[in-house]
Amino acid sequence: MAAVALSLAPFYGSAYAATPQAPIPPGAAWWKEAVVYQVYPRSFNDTNGDGIGDLNGITAKLDYLKTLGVDVIWLSPHFDSPNADNGYDIRDYRKVMAEFGSMDDFDRMLAEMKKRGMRLIIDLVVNHSSDEHQWFVESRKSKDNPYRDYYIWRDGKDGGAPNNYPSFFGGSAWEKDEATGQYYLHYFARKQPDLNWENPKVRNEVYDTMRFWLDKGVSGFRMDVIPFISKQNGLSDLPADKLAHPEFVYANGPRVHEYLQEMNREVLSRYDTMTVGEAFGVTFEQAPLFTDARRKELNMIFHFDIVRLDRDGWRKKDWMLPQLKAAYAQIDRTGGTHGWNTSFLSNHDNPRAVSHFGDDSPEWRAVSAKALATMMLTQRGTPFLYQGDELGMTNYPFRGIEDYNDVEVKGQWHDFVESGKVPAEEYLSHLRQTSRDNARTPMQWSAAPNGGFTSGKPWLAVNPNYTRINAASQVEDAGSVYHHYRRLMEVRRQTPALIHGEFRDLDPANPKVFAYTRTLDDKRYLVLINFTRETVVYGLPEGLKIAATVLDNGAAQQPVQPGAASVSLQPWQATIYEL
Ligand code: NOJ
Ligand code: CA
Repeated sequence: MAAVALSLAPFYGSAYAATPQAPIPPGAAWWKEAVVYQVYPRSFNDTNGDGIGDLNGITAKLDYLKTLGVDVIWLSPHFDSPNADNGYDIRDYRKVMAEFGSMDDFDRMLAEMKKRGMRLIIDLVVNHSSDEHQWFVESRKSKDNPYRDYYIWRDGKDGGAPNNYPSFFGGSAWEKDEATGQYYLHYFARKQPDLNWENPKVRNEVYDTMRFWLDKGVSGFRMDVIPFISKQNGLSDLPADKLAHPEFVYANGPRVHEYLQEMNREVLSRYDTMTVGEAFGVTFEQAPLFTDARRKELNMIFHFDIVRLDRDGWRKKDWMLPQLKAAYAQIDRTGGTHGWNTSFLSNHDNPRAVSHFGDDSPEWRAVSAKALATMMLTQRGTPFLYQGDELGMTNYPFRGIEDYNDVEVKGQWHDFVESGKVPAEEYLSHLRQTSRDNARTPMQWSAAPNGGFTSGKPWLAVNPNYTRINAASQVEDAGSVYHHYRRLMEVRRQTPALIHGEFRDLDPANPKVFAYTRTLDDKRYLVLINFTRETVVYGLPEGLKIAATVLDNGAAQQPVQPGAASVSLQPWQATIYEL
C-alpha cells in the first residue's frame, strides 16, 4: 500500500480505495481474514409479530450485514428448546426452534447467505442438553435404561449431593431425581443436564449431529463451554479456594484434548470449517493446547480475560487501561506462531461494549464506540462483532429485579439476596452493569415503535434510547458508528498487516493512550487510541514517524503532517497511521 495513495483519500473517516494486495502470508486461512457477526436470533428481527426474532428476520437483514462488511455469521442456538436458557438447552439438535421458524426457513436463510458470499457458523451446545431431550427423558427413567449412561448419575453422599460442585446458575450442580433417587450433574441450570462424554455413544451422537449441519452447508461451530466436556476423575469435592471459580476445575478434565482431537479426526478435518471454542476456565498457559494447529483441535478460542477484566462474579470492579493492554499482549502471545486468536468486546453474556469499555454518556457514546471498534478490528485475531455494537447500542436502564429475564439472575437472586447474604440494592447496583440482559434487548432498527424490532410485544423490553440510536438513522449518516465499523472492515480486508502482522504494545504503562504497531514484512501501522475525555499530546517512541493517516474515528481535528513524531489526540480519538 503506497503512502501516496493513502494521502489522496479524504482525511476524515476515509477508507482507502482498493489497491493491489500484498502477498497473502503463509498460514493464511479464510477464517483468519473474516469478520464474524454474532446474531442472537431471539433479539434480532421479528417478522411475524410474536415479539420473538426469527430466521426469516435474519434473512431479511442480510443485505444490511453484507453492506456492513460481515463475512461470517455466528448464529446463537436456533434448535428446538424449551428455553430455560434461551436456547442453550437443546431438546432436539436437528430441529429448528418453533418460535424461530422451520427447517425450510433455515435452508432459505443459508442459501441467501451463500448467494451473498457469506458463511454461517452455528452454536454447538454439547456439554449439556435440555432435560426435555429424548435422551434425558429416557435416561432418568431407570438405572438400567439404555440411555442412563448418556448423562452423569451418582448416588448422594451423607444425605446430600455427591459432591460440593456449585452450578453457575445458583445452588448445587447436582439435582436429585425422584425416579431412582440418584443425582444428575448440571453445571448450569437444572434443566441443562451434563452429557457423559466418557460414553462413546454420546460422542458419536455429537459427531453425527455435526455432520448433519455441515452437510447442510454450515461452515463450522462456536462451541459452548467446550472445555467442560471432560469431567474430573472421581468427582471429588472442590477445595474452598476453588468454590468461587469452579470453571478452572471444570475446564481441566483429563480427557478434553483427547475428545477434541477425536472430534477433529472424525468430523472437522473432513470439511472446510472454522471452529471457535468458548474457553471459560482456560488460562493463558493452557490456551495453546486448544489452538496450536499442530495439535488438530480447534482454530481459536474466546479468552475471557478482557470481558471479565473488571468482574468478580456478578460484581463489577474498577479497571485501568494498563490491565486491558496487558490482557491483549498476553492473548497475543498465547496465539504464538501456530495458533490464532479471537478479538471481541461483548457477546450475549456480557454488557454492551460501549457501556463497558467506552463512555456511554450522550456526548461521548458515538466517538468512544468508534474508538473501541478501532481497537477490536486491529488486533491480531478474528474479530467477533456482537449485534447492535455496530450502532453503539448501550446497556439498558434496569430498575428492579422484575426488569430482568435471565435464568442466571434468578438463581443469583435466590442464592445471594433472598438468602440475606447481600442487600438487594447492592446486588442490583452491580447487576445493572454486569447483567447479560444488557446485551439481549432487541436490535434497534429504526425510530418506529419498539425500534422496528417487532410489531407485537417484544419478549424483552427495547432500550428506550432507540429513538436516538438505531440502524436506519446510522445507515444514512456517513459519520455514524455503523459507517466507522464498515470502513474499518474495509481497511482490515485490504491490509494484510492488520490481519497477520506482529502486534507490539509501544507503551504498556500509559494509563490514557493505547499505542501499538502491527507489522508485516516492510509494512508497519500504528494505532493510537485515547481512552479519556481529555486532549492528550502523545510523542511517538523509538524515533517513529508517521507517513500517512489510514483511518480516523472522526475525533481528530487536523490532519497529521507526514513525518510527525507526536500527535495531539482529541478525546476518544482513535487513528490508524501508516509508518
Ligand atoms: C455459555 C453461553 O454463552 C451462555 O449463554 C449459556 O448460558 C451457557 N454457556 C450454558 O450453555
Ligand atoms: Ca417472530
